[in-house]
Amino acid sequence: DPLTVGVDIGGTKILAGVVDSHGSVVEVQRRPTTGHDVALVEDTIVDLVQGFQQQYDVAAVGVGAAGFVDASRSTVMFSPHLAWRDEPLRDRLTARMSIPVVVDNDANTTALGESRFGAGVGHRFVLCITLGTGIGGAIVLDGRVYRGANGMAGEFGHMQVVPDGHRCPCGNRGCWEQYASGNALEREARELVVARSPMAHALRELCGDDPDQLSGPQVTAAAQAGDPISVELIADVGRWLGTGVAGLVAAFDPSAVIIGGGVSDAGELLLAPTRDSMVRHLVGRGYRAEPPVVPAVLGPQAGFIGAADMARSAARRSRRAD
Ligand code: BGC
Ligand code: NA
Ligand code: ZN
Repeated sequence: DPLTVGVDIGGTKILAGVVDSHGSVVEVQRRPTTGHDVALVEDTIVDLVQGFQQQYDVAAVGVGAAGFVDASRSTVMFSPHLAWRDEPLRDRLTARMSIPVVVDNDANTTALGESRFGAGVGHRFVLCITLGTGIGGAIVLDGRVYRGANGMAGEFGHMQVVPDGHRCPCGNRGCWEQYASGNALEREARELVVARSPMAHALRELCGDDPDQLSGPQVTAAAQAGDPISVELIADVGRWLGTGVAGLVAAFDPSAVIIGGGVSDAGELLLAPTRDSMVRHLVGRGYRAEPPVVPAVLGPQAGFIGAADMARSAARRSRRAD
């Protein structure tokens, strides 16, 4: 079976890799997401793929994009965190690379990767939630992503959890991802620095009292090193996450909930409060099985591994059609 390439385009970074048919990663590359410039993101994808092609025989490319992808999996209709608006990403890339390309939402490709090779193995009906810049979501039944009428199902991050709450880049207020995401963690940590809270001495030291220099991953590292306020900040994110998960479980009754994305690096510091708050808010608690809430086992690589696997299936289908 040939190798394929997966590319995961998030709000802050692009991860790309060469992947084999068992989901094993042959090589990885990482680049920053170059601001909000559509052309630069496209150039970066082409550059990464052509770099891989110099060393490997690549059969197809799968792209997981942090945005709303249409049902034909070619156009990024909208992205709250990136500049895509009605962007025919698949056609632009195939025109430049003469190789089959498929595009899907980043959380969908993450969910596919986890369903085939990770935490979803053995589960029939999985919800996947990715916590990065925002919240990504996916619904996977019998190994297939449920896409809705327009390809946009699973945008859990933009369900309103707080009326008149924090403004979201999607244009609404109070979206779930404003409370349970990397951005939320960063905002709360920065507010403590702005308040010059003595409770936040470790965080203030990390950023030299300049809130703009403080990042989510630094808060996670501080929590893992035992800084009490950082532990609290991550637990707060977990509580918001669990409350939302309870709603999703009420709606979908999945057999497992997989939590991925960069913030899930916090591990049990995040997941223990998530489970507590899910159970606390779950309708019918005590009278139903609670689905396991488990971390993505492919970690940050799940997105491009799933994208590469999707590309492999698409390439296989087009070979059969010839
Ligand atoms: C976007 C999703 C994306 C998620 C994670 C959300 O704000 O609406 O399409 O999957 O962020 O990147
Ligand atoms: Na999705
Ligand atoms: Zn929103």
